[in-house]
Amino acid sequence: MAILKIARMGHPVLRTKAEPIPDPTAPEIAALARDMIETMIDADGAGLAAPQVHVPLRIVIFQAPATRSDPGLTDEERFEASAPLTVLVNPHIEVLEPAHEGGWEGCLSVPGLRGYVERPAHIRYSGYTLEGVRLERTARGFHARVVQHECDHLEGILYPQRMQDLSKLIFTSEVKHWLEGER
Ligand code: NI
Repeated sequence: MAILKIARMGHPVLRTKAEPIPDPTAPEIAALARDMIETMIDADGAGLAAPQVHVPLRIVIFQAPATRSDPGLTDEERFEASAPLTVLVNPHIEVLEPAHEGGWEGCLSVPGLRGYVERPAHIRYSGYTLEGVRLERTARGFHARVVQHECDHLEGILYPQRMQDLSKLIFTSEVKHWLEGER
């Protein structure tokens, strides 16, 4: 196990389209996933994509704790809004509803900043586990947001490129000014 160096915005690997993984069960992919998990936990992130650790392959990890879901959701919606720590190889996303939802995002490759990003609110995603089993889930809320954010990394896209209003690209220390009403 090792904590890996995280690429920061401006490094070419973050603009590279990542390559599919031919065998999700390969031992080196399991080793990469273990190192990514250790790196994400060390950096206190909610997700990490392989290009962020200088590996241009299509694998992401993420978690969506129930505590981050909106209090106004129904039980079914809350279930969709949370996810355990998940490793997903060769992920694919399908948008289920055209409606977008705004939310604040951060990224370990863009340290110290937060941005308000509009994304589809309800998605279905699929991919493969490290055991080679196909995984498919529907997601909304923070869960849908983190999966879309991580999969964007595989296309060489960082969240500021998804922003419509760059006045909402702010320092983490200033988020408090925005949480009191402006949404
Ligand atoms: Ni990110």
